[in-house]
Amino acid sequence: MKLKRNLKVAIDSPAAAGAGTQAKLISKHYKLLYLDTGKIYRLLGYYKIKNSKKFSSSFIINKIKKLKITDLKNKKLLTNEVGVAASIIAKNKKIRKLVHNFQIKCAYNPPKKYNGSCLDGRDITYKIIPNADFKFFITASIKTRAKRRYLELKSLNKKIPYNKVLKSIKKRDKSDYNRRISPLKRTKDSILINTTNLSKRACFLKIKKIIDKKLKINGNL
Ligand code: C5P
Repeated sequence: MKLKRNLKVAIDSPAAAGAGTQAKLISKHYKLLYLDTGKIYRLLGYYKIKNSKKFSSSFIINKIKKLKITDLKNKKLLTNEVGVAASIIAKNKKIRKLVHNFQIKCAYNPPKKYNGSCLDGRDITYKIIPNADFKFFITASIKTRAKRRYLELKSLNKKIPYNKVLKSIKKRDKSDYNRRISPLKRTKDSILINTTNLSKRACFLKIKKIIDKKLKINGNL
């Protein structure tokens, strides 16, 4: 499928709501460059846990300068510990600014082989791609999110009790929604998708219907 112009899809969501899964499905279907922006903060969190002494401004600047999307595929970034470290780092204004530029480049200048871009995170709909063609706020009940994250960690052989996962997600929500810089919020122009009672496929079909309808109206298909 070739679209007439670059499509930009912005998704914000709290942790483990299924946004990453949907963003991947959307990107694959419409041939968009996918960027999981949380993974950038996770990568930095990982470096900090690995060697906090080395974690200086120049180290961070250098890492972000050389950053490639393939660096974000490392399975080590998926642990609960790294997620917690990421949410602490994500409150740092200077770091956000550096990460911001990388995200903008991916969103607005994807390689030619793509029909556009799809980014998910916490501030994508209002800070990174405020003029996105499609904005979604993907969420699910706290228990559903904790269960999904628990099962995901279990499948990766990371043994952590369900209650600990639930507590950690609650803590991360509190921090992400209430922080001063780039808090998680649903903008008025974002379409709410609640994945609590939807399968991955049903959720994707719902999103696809919304996208296809607008693309057809605008003669982009
Ligand atoms: O999405 P994920 O759970 O992997 O993100 C890890 C953490 O990174 C989040 O809890 C959040 O604090 C931070 N983050 C952010 N802005 C983004 C994406 C993630 O602050 N755009």
